[in-house]
Amino acid sequence: MKRRDTVGGRTARAAVRREYQGLAGVYDRRWAAYLRGSLRMLRPHLRDARPGRLLDLGCDTAALVPHLRAWNTLPDAYVGVDASDAMLAVARGRLVAAPPACPWSTLTAAAEALPFHDGEFDTVVSASSLHDWSDAAAGLAEARRVIAPGGRLLLLDWARDPLTMRVLDRVMRWRGAAYHRMYAAGEMEDLLRRAAFAVRGRETRKITRVWGLALFEAVPA
Ligand SMILES: C[S@@+](CC[C@H](N)C(=O)[O-])C[C@H]1O[C@@H](n2cnc3c(N)ncnc32)[C@H](O)[C@@H]1O
Repeated sequence: MKRRDTVGGRTARAAVRREYQGLAGVYDRRWAAYLRGSLRMLRPHLRDARPGRLLDLGCDTAALVPHLRAWNTLPDAYVGVDASDAMLAVARGRLVAAPPACPWSTLTAAAEALPFHDGEFDTVVSASSLHDWSDAAAGLAEARRVIAPGGRLLLLDWARDPLTMRVLDRVMRWRGAAYHRMYAAGEMEDLLRRAAFAVRGRETRKITRVWGLALFEAVPA
């Protein structure tokens, strides 16, 4: 694992840290319905799978981990990365209390400058984080760099396509301190292609009356 001291977009990430500092203790409860829907989209891509070394990018409270167990997903290692120390403190509490059946670690880092060697992971999962990244192209290029040949990326995020999400985008621009922007599913697919991924699967779904999400399965091109 390689450490990098200098990263770009410090101001944006300070906003992320500030916003999620206040949310860490209540996130799982407040977002329970949302998490149920987003995890339901991820499940078919991870159930009964051996994802190898798994990077959870923007892992938040590591809400994914108990589900990996329930889905019979058996990684060789789990690494949770997040820009927010407060979220990672909650994640570590969860991982200590109920560890996954593999070595695990957490690390404070920005998606746009990952402190890992090339090809260090077989699977990168990034759920509901892209909209906060100050430089989505850099974050996806980093995800591509750390994925080993034969590996894959599962990218899930808010999609700007339904009207409800375009309204939400306006609201978030106004009051979401950490929020950067929301992409339409087609824009996400373009970002993936430009980051040298080949898109193998794409699903868009409204998980509630408001929330429209897009999920991509992508492999190094
Ligand atoms: C809305 S939460 C959701 C994440 C979680 N994976 C889930 O599925 O619920 C977004 C997370 O992404 C993290 N995040 C935002 N921007 C980031 C960045 N540039 N690099 C790393 N993590 C970031 C935030 O700190 C936060 O914990």
